[in-house]
Amino acid sequence: MTGAAGAGAGVPRDFPDGWFAHGHPAELYERLREPGGLVRHPAPPDGVLWIAGGHAEVHAAAADPAAFRSADGILLAEIGHAYDAPPTIMHTDPPDHTRYRALVAPAFRPSVTRRLEGAVRERVRALLAPVAAGRAFDAVGELAVPLPLQVICALLGVPEDDWRRFHRWTEAIVPGAAEGLSEGERDALRVECGTYLLGTAHERRADPRDDVISRLALAELDGDRLTDLELVMFLIQLLVAGNETTRHAISGGLLAFAERPDQWAALRARPEELLPTAVEEILRWTSPVVYFLRTATRAVTLGGTDVAPGDRVMLLYGSANRDPAAFGPDADAFDVARRPEASGLAFGFGPHFCLGAALARMEIRILLEELLACREEGLALAGTPAYNGSSVVTGLRHCALTPA
Ligand code: HEM
Repeated sequence: MTGAAGAGAGVPRDFPDGWFAHGHPAELYERLREPGGLVRHPAPPDGVLWIAGGHAEVHAAAADPAAFRSADGILLAEIGHAYDAPPTIMHTDPPDHTRYRALVAPAFRPSVTRRLEGAVRERVRALLAPVAAGRAFDAVGELAVPLPLQVICALLGVPEDDWRRFHRWTEAIVPGAAEGLSEGERDALRVECGTYLLGTAHERRADPRDDVISRLALAELDGDRLTDLELVMFLIQLLVAGNETTRHAISGGLLAFAERPDQWAALRARPEELLPTAVEEILRWTSPVVYFLRTATRAVTLGGTDVAPGDRVMLLYGSANRDPAAFGPDADAFDVARRPEASGLAFGFGPHFCLGAALARMEIRILLEELLACREEGLALAGTPAYNGSSVVTGLRHCALTPA
């Protein structure tokens, strides 16, 4: 096999473990993109693993499920395994993925998301109470953790107070998220979560309401329905896919502003014009999903590199979102007025494009609007931020901020 890129030249052997402990490593990304094309991982856990760090390569692979399949992916396959369940939507390929997506997508239409706007605003206002009162707070624990969980509860139509249970369950499900839990405790929590969701789904089938569980429980396509297990796995996927990601975008976005008062001042001066671009910039800048894997289904050339059937390709969304070839020479700067021609890849691209994108964008926009309303001067750092150290979903563990 020939590759345009060197066989891992300049790539640390332990990549990616531990390389995202402090967010996105600009220097490593640069080294990965520099040869142009794919870089071969020097010490993959098995087989051949290519790293795609450039926007063009990541975009092309994500858009082509026939050549790069999502089955055998990361993270949720492990969750499915934990439940002895079939793979979730994220780990299926056409035609199964097409069927799955057609069944669930209507529950995420913009009209459904828009109906949650009032509920989201109410929760944002409540969570911004410390800011309105002028006191320091942890932007992660007091705001970015509860908000997406409370919004998911609203989306699913379950009591808002259950967000704490969802938090615990999600941590038990995501590999490596909860420290100090034994395997037995994890299993018990997973079973509890599945039982809760299945019970709620049965209730909604019998007595539907205006919520996503009811929509999914009753969704039908050509006489086809989601099985109980598919439904529960999908709901679990929503919890996993929608929480930590949104948490990191929210807290990382607030930190970006706290560290750059000029960017907050720019947004404050022209909010109508810059709110939409600021939301996109926060997503590009934070890129909470660092990478997902694909597997080549056939011999294919990507970015000038020959990839053999069965080779794995790491779509490094974080690096693609900082690629100067797509975002210009200042790609490493946080600029709320940025209007890139290239599409941001924080939500992926192609058939697996994030189903919760509109919801996440709305949460970020409302947070900025409410923060502008209650604290024009914005926020300042009140301590050293701590990162979560994950190499798949990267972001902050703690971030003390104070009204500026
Ligand atoms: C800032 C927040 C978020 C980010 C950065 C994010 C990121 C992503 C990415 C990168 C993918 C594509 C995976 C791939 O390439 O295979 C994805 C898929 C998905 N996301 Fe999100 N997500 C976010 C929020 C949400 C929310 C709030 C929900 C649900 C309430 C959600 C539900 C999903 C689902 C169901 C998929 C799978 C779609 C499919 O495979 O067809 N996400 N997300």
